[in-house]
Amino acid sequence: MAKSTSTAKKVTPTTTVKKVTEKTIEQAKNLRKAPLLFPTDLGEKASKDISAAMNSVLADVFALYLKTKNFHWHVSGPHFRDYHLMFDDHGTEIFAMTDPIAERVRKLGGTTLRSIGHISKLQSIKDNDADFVEPSDMLAELCQDNITLTSRLRAAHDICGQYNDTATASLIEEWINQAEQRAWFLFETSRKSDSSGH
Ligand SMILES: [Fe+2]
Repeated sequence: MAKSTSTAKKVTPTTTVKKVTEKTIEQAKNLRKAPLLFPTDLGEKASKDISAAMNSVLADVFALYLKTKNFHWHVSGPHFRDYHLMFDDHGTEIFAMTDPIAERVRKLGGTTLRSIGHISKLQSIKDNDADFVEPSDMLAELCQDNITLTSRLRAAHDICGQYNDTATASLIEEWINQAEQRAWFLFETSRKSDSSGH
């Protein structure tokens, strides 16, 4: 095999890392604070009010999603299969709300949630970190939380109505129906069977 006669110069990687100076830090901070403006005919006040309402709803949706999955993972007892599967169905439906809510806020020119910490500051639906929760208490708690979510959605719908934001309002209408259906299933599942076993 012929010996390589290459005389190519050895390339030494040049450093392209920008030197961090006081000025670049200041520029980065200013960029972080820069508003993510997006044009909307609804106006700035509508954007702020609807975004605030929808971000609060989004925090509750994430809180309810995680609680529903928490109960899906930890439920036990003779109704395990039914409850486990129902909680999973509900979790899937609740999670499907998250992206459309966040993107609706962005389309309105607002900014949305950025972290678990941000969620915890805005959520009104409480977490349940108990080591053990009776299955009947899981049903009752999730039923109440879905009713709470319904009322938060109705309040957000009112704000959308004030600004004629029909797109957000129509999404909310479907989510209210879904939340009411989940509450209905949870309530009926929690009823005690009668003496005939039905
Ligand atoms: Fe699962």
